[in-house]
Amino acid sequence: MAFPFAGRPPAEILEDLRARKRDDVRWAEGRVFAYVYDPGDEAMRLLADAHRLYMTENGLDPTSFPSLLGLERDVIGKALALHRAPAGAAGSFTSGGTESILLSLKTVRDLRRATRPVPGRPEVVLPETAHAAFYKACEYFDLTPVRVPVEPESLAADPRAIADAISENTILLVASAPSYAHGVVDPVAEIAELAARHRLHLHVDACVGGMYLPFLRELGQPVPEFDFSIPGVTQLSMDFHKWGYAAKGASAILYRDATMRRHQIFAWSGWTGYTVVNPTILSTRSGGPLAACWAILEHLGREGYLELVERSQRAALAIREAIERHPALRLLGRPVGNLFAFTSDDRDVFAIADAMRARGWYIQPQFGFGPSPANIHLSVGASNAPHAREFIADLVACADAAPAKPAAGDLGLPADLGALSFDGLAGWLGLTGTDLPAGMAPINRILDRLPHPSRDGLLAEYVNRLYRAR
Ligand SMILES: Cc1ncc(COP(=O)(O)O)c(C=O)c1O
Repeated sequence: MAFPFAGRPPAEILEDLRARKRDDVRWAEGRVFAYVYDPGDEAMRLLADAHRLYMTENGLDPTSFPSLLGLERDVIGKALALHRAPAGAAGSFTSGGTESILLSLKTVRDLRRATRPVPGRPEVVLPETAHAAFYKACEYFDLTPVRVPVEPESLAADPRAIADAISENTILLVASAPSYAHGVVDPVAEIAELAARHRLHLHVDACVGGMYLPFLRELGQPVPEFDFSIPGVTQLSMDFHKWGYAAKGASAILYRDATMRRHQIFAWSGWTGYTVVNPTILSTRSGGPLAACWAILEHLGREGYLELVERSQRAALAIREAIERHPALRLLGRPVGNLFAFTSDDRDVFAIADAMRARGWYIQPQFGFGPSPANIHLSVGASNAPHAREFIADLVACADAAPAKPAAGDLGLPADLGALSFDGLAGWLGLTGTDLPAGMAPINRILDRLPHPSRDGLLAEYVNRLYRAR
């Protein structure tokens, strides 16, 4: 490890940075069905320009940078309007869905501590399709996640299971609109009734649906209600950096009542330095993502989003139909929008993902959990739409050629997996931590069979080795 003495000229550095992308997934060609949200060249240039204009401004202090305060008020105002929030509602601009969820749980924890403390450790009821970020929030803020089964056919949250899980320590219920994995919208109205009856808060996770489902509904498609128009919904997360097509680092946490947000804000003047008053987790934060978010909302407007949703939805439906027609593939649950997942009862889905990767496509494998078998997730966006036909042809070819799903016995897994050390298991999987693996299927097949705590421990250890300095 060495810190360089002499610097290098900008042109050379930029060339280096460009070259380093060579092994990345090819998102700019519309061949990636996760991670990336591409609104097209003109809008991308606007994002970059707006981001650059505010890169250096610091969201730490709104009195020094009133421009950022104004941009945030505008952006949150639009988010509240889109989600039909009543007068008196409020929200904060955050760095992403995870931060929005972390803040929501911290806020409810502190609000309940201050107003109606529970006798034990506070609990959050999570349908098993709720995003992993809720578990992260529980881990960070000392809350107990109480996981409940979802309805096995539709993969929607089951209000009866939620009702059964409510205890004297429950502080929050959670519903997804939609779930990331399968694109299923939970029965928010029924869950909200439960929340109201038990005087509990209800978080609707519209991180991935918040900038898509309202426009899909406006296009006349049947979309279940999920926003503040339902009285029991107290807080809602929604990401601009997904189907809002904003630059990354753009989400919002919204509250029905601004008094709730008081419990989110951290203020500290008890030290020798400047007074810290942070509405969100970060203190110093670039104005870039906020400015880019403001710019894309202004640029696209409702009309622009309706058009993007229309294009995405048409492509998503075409792909979904091709999957439903294929004898070896099976759609999971009842998705409503442009996110969905498929499995195969007899073929190896991980091999399908690798074969598609070899053809230049990225589709996202998901491990089996609860009622959801190992599957492949697709997020279909406007930039994928022109490639839908080619994608379908390749997917059908890869599914036709996929090997049979291996039986558990064929993987040669040791009986007592839990007893294996990281080195034992990792060496056996070929996961050395010195480099990224080439094909993922052999690794995924085995990880899929591990109980999730073993899998998580292994992956955390692996990543700890992978991110090493050089
Ligand atoms: C439903 C849902 N919630 C939360 C998140 C977490 O968002 P982020 O990756 O921006 O932290 C995601 C991300 O895909 C999501 O789909």
